[in-house]
This record gives sequence, C-alpha cells and structure tokens, in this order.
Amino acid sequence: MKRRRCMRTTHLLVVPALVLSACEPSLPEVTPEEGERVAQIAEPAAAELLRTLVGRLTAALNEGGPSQAFELCSDEAIPLTRTVEAGLEGTLSLKRTSFRYRNPANAPDEAEEAVLVFFERALQDEGEAPSSFVQRVSQGEMRYYKPLFVGELCLGCHGDPESMDPQVRRILSERYPEDLATGYEVGAFRGLVRVSVPVTMVELGGAQ
Ligand code: HEC
Repeated sequence: MKRRRCMRTTHLLVVPALVLSACEPSLPEVTPEEGERVAQIAEPAAAELLRTLVGRLTAALNEGGPSQAFELCSDEAIPLTRTVEAGLEGTLSLKRTSFRYRNPANAPDEAEEAVLVFFERALQDEGEAPSSFVQRVSQGEMRYYKPLFVGELCLGCHGDPESMDPQVRRILSERYPEDLATGYEVGAFRGLVRVSVPVTMVELGGAQ
C-alpha cells in the first residue's frame, strides 16, 4: 500500500469536491469554485507546455530523425519547461511526472503519487478518468493535473525497446540506465502534467 499524505483533493467534471484522503482535516477541502478557478489559471499553462514540447519534438523528428529527437527531449525538456514558466511571469510551476519515469528529476513527490494512484485506479475500475484534477497541498499551494496518454508519436521512445531505432536504444541505455519508461502501448496512461498555483492567485480571482 502506498502511504497517503493528508491533503484535500477535488477532481473536476465527475464528482465535485471528491475527497481523496480523509485524514486530519487541517487543510480545507477544495471547493468547486476554487477548482474552477485553479483550472482556469492552470489549463492554459499545461496546454502551452504540451504544445511547446510536442512542437519541438515533431520538428526534431522531421529534421534529424529519432536519435536527434531523443537527444532534444533529453537535453531540452526541462529547460523548455522553465522557459514556458518564465513566459508565465514565473507565477506557476510546471512539471511532468510518472511512476515509470525515465528522468529521475521527474519522479513524483508524495502529493503527485496520490494523484497518479487516483488516475490508475479510476482507469482500472471505471475504464476512464477525469480530464483534470485539482488538489490543495498546503495553505499556500494548489495543484492542477492533466493526465497524459501514449499516442503513436510516443512509441519510438516509450514503446517496445525491440522496435526502437537502434541508435535510440543505444542513447537510451547510455543516458538512462535505470529507465522505467518503455513498454507502453497506444492509449496507455503515461503520467501527469502538474501545474502549481499559489493560493493567493486563486483568492485574488475569487475576489474580483
Ligand atoms: C524522441 C524520443 C521521445 C519521444 C518521441 C517521446 N518522448 Fe517522452 N521522454 C523522452 C526522454 C528522453 C525523456 C526524459 C527527459 C525528460 O523529458 O525529462 C522523456 C520523458 C517523458 C515524460 C516525463 C517523465 C519521465 O519519464 O521522465 C513524460 C510524461 C513523457 N516523456 C511522455 C511522452 C509522451 C506522452 C510522448 C508522446 C506524445 C513522448 N513522451 C514522446 C523521449 C521521448
């Protein structure tokens, strides 16, 4: 069993104000209004990150093929994430995470683990999951999560290693000897984009 931390979580669009963890009520529940507000602030940031990464990945694949695209992801994914954050005036913090991470820098923290478990369970038990999730992690921080699923484009670097470009396979084993992020099929749950939103931003919006 995974250890659960005390935190209050809401997932939008299915059950408003679902409480994920029912331990000490030291953190207030996410209200539906707060959930909406967090989504309003964070969704464009998550979309911008994905647009940027997939755009750069596709361009690199077209220009230099799979091994160059692999190096681009490896060298640039986190710096590009910082660039997208800077474009948002540094108010939001962005991350991609997964239980089966390739880059240890993307490993989940406890709050992210709880949401990964939530999505895995929903997909397993109901065959579908909400399109986003909102969580309060502290007095000062709320988080918005967007699930990521594997598409055809992803298989070249996250699919069956046997079917990978041999150069990609070589760079992969050199750079990520502990890699957990292969063996995926199209449609599989790959992980989350997480956007941290300061509670002050959520409150400011509410007061307007
Ligand atoms: C050309 C190779 C390549 C392709 C194609 C690719 N990735 Fe990755 N991916 C990587 C590399 C390298 C990393 C590790 C570096 C990083 O992103 O921090 C990574 C990391 C990730 C992470 C962060 C968690 C982790 O494992 O470190 C996610 C999430 C992810 N990829 C999802 C996807 C999805 C979804 C697609 C398809 C839209 C995709 N990737 C396509 C190479 C690729």
